[in-house]
This record gives sequence, C-alpha cells and structure tokens, in this order.
Amino acid sequence: MCIFARQMKQEVIISQNLKKDVGEAVSRCPHDRLFVLTDTTTVRLCWPLISDLPQFETAQVITIGDTDEHKTLESLVSVWKAMQEGGASRHSLLVNVGGGMVTDLGGFAASTFKRGLAYINIPTTLLSQVDASVGGKTGINFGGLKNEIGVFNCARSVILSSEFLRSLDHKNLLSGYAEMLKHGLISDEESWKELLRFDLESIDYNLLGALVAKSVEVKERIVEEDPTEKGLRKALNLGHTAGHALESLALELGRPVLHGYAVAWGLVCELFLSVVKCSFPKDKLRLTVQFIRANYGDFAFNCKQYDRLYEFMKHDKKNEAGNINFTLLADIGDIQINKQASKEEIFEMLDFLREG
Ligand code: GLY
Repeated sequence: MCIFARQMKQEVIISQNLKKDVGEAVSRCPHDRLFVLTDTTTVRLCWPLISDLPQFETAQVITIGDTDEHKTLESLVSVWKAMQEGGASRHSLLVNVGGGMVTDLGGFAASTFKRGLAYINIPTTLLSQVDASVGGKTGINFGGLKNEIGVFNCARSVILSSEFLRSLDHKNLLSGYAEMLKHGLISDEESWKELLRFDLESIDYNLLGALVAKSVEVKERIVEEDPTEKGLRKALNLGHTAGHALESLALELGRPVLHGYAVAWGLVCELFLSVVKCSFPKDKLRLTVQFIRANYGDFAFNCKQYDRLYEFMKHDKKNEAGNINFTLLADIGDIQINKQASKEEIFEMLDFLREG
C-alpha cells in the first residue's frame, strides 16, 4: 500500500483470475461514468480479455497511439477532450489498460481532469507491471525530455496478471526483467540469486508470476517510505543514470533500444562504479555482468561517443547542484544514494561496459 499527497491508497492485486479481480476492483470504486484508456495495440489484444464484464457495459473507450512517441501533450489533450465530451465528472473512474505509456499518461489525465478523479491501472507489459504502473508517478514527455511534466498520484488499484505476459514478445519480456533485476540488487542476496537463476530462454510463467509479485513488493516498500523521491526512492534509479544516457544516444543514432535493455547495460556501468567507489564485491559484479551480457548482448558504441554520453548524464533530471547523481551499492541491498563520480571515473565505467 502507498499513501501519497492525495492520501489515496493503492492496492496492488496479484491476479489469478483477471476478469474477477478487475470486475471487483471497478465495483469497489464508486463512480458515475466509466472511461477506459487503451492504445492502438492494447485495444485489440488486451481489452477484449475484460471488455465483456458487466461493469464495463456503459464504459466509454478512448484509444491513443501506441509507443512512447505518443506520450505527448496532444495525446493528453485528446484524452481530456474525450472525457469532457463523455460527461466525465470528479466522480468518474478511468481504467488504464496498457503499458507504461498508457498508465503514465492516463494517470496524469485522471489526476488533472476536474482536479482529479480516481483511476485503476491494468498494466499489460512486464515493464509496466514491475515499475511504471506502481508507485504513483504519472506524466508525459515534453520539450524533448522524458516524463518532464507530471504529478505523483497513486492509482486506486493496480491489477497484475500474467495472462498478458504470455503473449509478450521476448524482447519486451527482457526489457521488464531488467527492472526486476534492479529490484533484486537493491533488495537482498537471495532475491538477486533467484533472479540470476531464472531461465529467460525458456520461460516458466508461474515462476515469473511469483518473481513479479516479489519485485513489486520491493518497489512498494520503498515508495511507501519515500513517495516523492526525497531520499530512499532514489534507490530505484540504480542503473538509470548511465542507462538513460545510453537510451538517449541510441535514439540519437537512429537505432532506439528498449528501456530495459538500456537499464541492463546501465546496471553493468553502475555496478562497476559501485566497485570503484563503494567496494561492491567484485564476484557479484562478475556474476551479474555475465547474466546481462548473456541475455541482453552488448551495446555497440565507441570512445568517440563518451563525451556525448557524459553530456546526456549531465542533463539528467535527477542531478542536484550541477552534480551527476548516481545510486550505487556497497553490497546487494546496501544502497548508497547521491554518489558523484569524476569525468575520468565515468569514462572508465564506459570502458568497462565496452570492453568488460
Ligand atoms: N521508476 C522509478 C520510480 O518509480 O521511482
């Protein structure tokens, strides 16, 4: 559970029966009108799994373009407009069915329409199940920057079902798994070992479901203690300072990578930096890097691109007082926030990612 500025409680439901759990969650949330937000993919593949519930009989379905490039002010305006034209009031309910783009944008649309109405998240990708849909971060991209405009405001319920994961392609599964690996690293040794043992080549979906539940618990625990990222929530940024820079470089080079892949390579970077700056055990670095290289391959870049990567890190919105801020580890679960590194150390870190 998390309680945020709006004093709203978020229940996270690990669903064994999607329709029943969605129906009950919607019924628990009194509303006058009901809106469902989907994207052009989830409206075809995911919404039909629940659309015939009696609770959705009068639902008005809003569909926006899929992928992150549609996480824009224009899409947001189209959602606000559809809600206004559909007679939404402060007592209406919005159900978001989709990946992180839909849950972030839908959460923001609900949080701002008539100063805020309740919303439920039904995340349909692994990445959104273990990260985006939980913890109340909502928003849109703006001015070329990711998640630049948004608010903290929890969904009433988040319903996690492995039914959606079975049809997810391998790359998107790996993308979400990188965030799970991050949760293991910031949590405890047993969880980290269990995640490294998991066979990503031949997925056991029941086991994956159990690992997702554990992973989300890690995030909930942290968010409950620090909902607005004043301190401990920065633990969730492990791998993301380098990861976001790699993701931005890949985009600039015209060969975009999935967020979780960039996070996985960012973990390689930041665990190396953890060894240098916080004495993180070298054998744990080696085992984690082995797992990441075996499953995610390598990020192709050269040393002429180091300055550009450094520039991206300097513009990271998590920085404070002009310093590049890293979250590092002194050991598994031993979180060290607000750690700075010199340009030389950062370049060594990039050497390690490139050459091992
Ligand atoms: N995705 C990191 C966080 O929710 O804080």
